[in-house]
Amino acid sequence: MAKEKYLIVPAGGSGQRMGAAVPKQFLLLGGKPILRLTIERFLEADPDIHVITVLPRESVRYWKDYCLSENLIFSQKIVTGGFTRFHSVKNGLEKVPDGALVAVHDGVRPLVSVKLVRDLFAAAEQFPAVIPALPSFDTLKFGLRREDGTLEASAEPLDRSSVFSVQTPQIFQSEVLKKAYSQGYSTAFTDDASVVLAAGIPVKMLPGERTNIKITTPEDLSLAERLLR
Ligand code: C5P
Repeated sequence: MAKEKYLIVPAGGSGQRMGAAVPKQFLLLGGKPILRLTIERFLEADPDIHVITVLPRESVRYWKDYCLSENLIFSQKIVTGGFTRFHSVKNGLEKVPDGALVAVHDGVRPLVSVKLVRDLFAAAEQFPAVIPALPSFDTLKFGLRREDGTLEASAEPLDRSSVFSVQTPQIFQSEVLKKAYSQGYSTAFTDDASVVLAAGIPVKMLPGERTNIKITTPEDLSLAERLLR
C-alpha cells in the first residue's frame, strides 16, 4: 500500500532580497499569491496530501484569513518559522508521523510540474531520499574575492559534468528526515538533502525542471509571470 503523503512548505522567510513590503511568498503571480499556487500544484498531484505550511509568526493570521475568504479547503496545519530554513523545516517536521513520505518544497517555487511531484513521490517509495537536480549548462568557475572587493576567476578547473544544481521538492521517508534533522544546525544546511547527507544517508537525484525556478528577486517574478502564461 502506498504511504501517506505530507508536504512541508517552508515559507517562513522575510524575502529581503525581493525588496517588497509583503513577504515574497504572498506576492501575486497570475492573480494568486505565490504560496497558494505552490500548494495547489501538490494538491493537484494528490488531493489527499497533508500540508504543513511554515510561516513567519506575523503572517499566520493573514494566511488563515486568506484561506477562509477564498474557501481554500484542504488538510493544512500552520506552524511558525524559525531562525533559518533548517529551523523552519524542523518545526514543520514535528507534525509529520513516521511511516509516511514527506516532501519539502520552497514556498516560492510555484512552477513545479505535477509530473515532477508525482515522479519524485513514486521514487521515494523505493529510496530513502530523492531530489530533483539539473546538470550545469554553463561553464563553472571558482570565484576569488580580492581585498579591494573585486571578484576574480580562479584557474582551478571545475568539471561541470559532475556539478548539479539542486531544486525542491525534496522527498524523503519521514523517519529518515526526522532522524537527520535531530542533528545540530550547520550553516552548510541550505537544503534538506544536505542535512540527510550529513547524517550518512544516500540521496538519489532525478532530472529537475528548468522552469521550476525559485522566486528570489523582482526579475524572477517577471520571468515566472511569463512562464505561467
Ligand atoms: O532563503 P532561501 O531563499 O533559501 O529560502 C527558501 C525558502 O525557505 C523560502 O520559501 C523561505 O520562505 C523559506 N525560509 C523559511 N524560514 C527561514 C528562512 C527561509 O521557511 N527562516
